[in-house]
Amino acid sequence: MESKERDEILKAQIALNRLPKHIAIIMDGNGRWAQLHGMARVFGHQSGVESVREVTEAAAEIGIEYLTLYAFSTENWNRPNDEVNALMALLVKTIQAELPTLNKNNIRLQCIGDIESLPEATRLELLDAMQQTAHNSRMTLILALSYSAKWEIVQAVKNISEKVSKGILQPDEIDETLIANELATKGIPDPELMIRTGGETRISNFLLWQIAYAELSFTKVFWPDFRKNDLYEAIIDFQQRQRRFGKTGEQIETFL
Ligand code: IPE
Ligand code: IPE
Ligand code: MG
Repeated sequence: MESKERDEILKAQIALNRLPKHIAIIMDGNGRWAQLHGMARVFGHQSGVESVREVTEAAAEIGIEYLTLYAFSTENWNRPNDEVNALMALLVKTIQAELPTLNKNNIRLQCIGDIESLPEATRLELLDAMQQTAHNSRMTLILALSYSAKWEIVQAVKNISEKVSKGILQPDEIDETLIANELATKGIPDPELMIRTGGETRISNFLLWQIAYAELSFTKVFWPDFRKNDLYEAIIDFQQRQRRFGKTGEQIETFL
């Protein structure tokens, strides 16, 4: 079967009225994919760009509102300099190359993470692309760059403490909404579905607060091999799960 045909069959199985609003993806396995093909790790990162393109297009086409991609973690700064530099350069190149497509497809680019820690060229390219796509409304593509959940929580606690110490905020005013509004994802609904490619079954410091009730989906597929059908399959599987939020199955069925 042609892959386009297979994609259409899968796509037709997705219930468009029960889509997750927000999907978050840990794009893992680039290095191992490259090694498997006898190439340097950097080649895996380059090949992963095609997957980003495909998944962004597929998500926007079916009507996902937010797509967050974990592109570089706080811990990834500890990789060899050559790999870090190559990744930062790849980011600049990719953002430049994809900007017209983002605008054509009405996709807004946002970023979560410690932007200040990025090299200037990467930071400026990113800020420019965010500004140029700020008015797009079909889908928001959020890149997690120099991001980690613990970094984000530390920032939030610092900001809240400062407000309390200045008397702007009373400790008993602190609730879940207030904390959520101090996180990098302020204004973005929590992901209902989190996918990790590459075979590992861990979270690696990604969106810890926000995935409190997300459905987790792990696949052995390496990121450079991840295609539209893999996204469709994850969504179809998500739609077959019963999300109980602490209630009983019977309670949930009564409300269906
Ligand atoms: C994910 O792929 C990309 C980044 C973390 C930047 P990896 O580079 O972690 O690939 P593996 O896990 O080593 O195969
Ligand atoms: C997580 O992948 C970070 C990104 C995908 C950007 P890693 O490859 O860095 O995670 P670990 O080290 O396997 O946990
Ligand atoms: Mg990895």
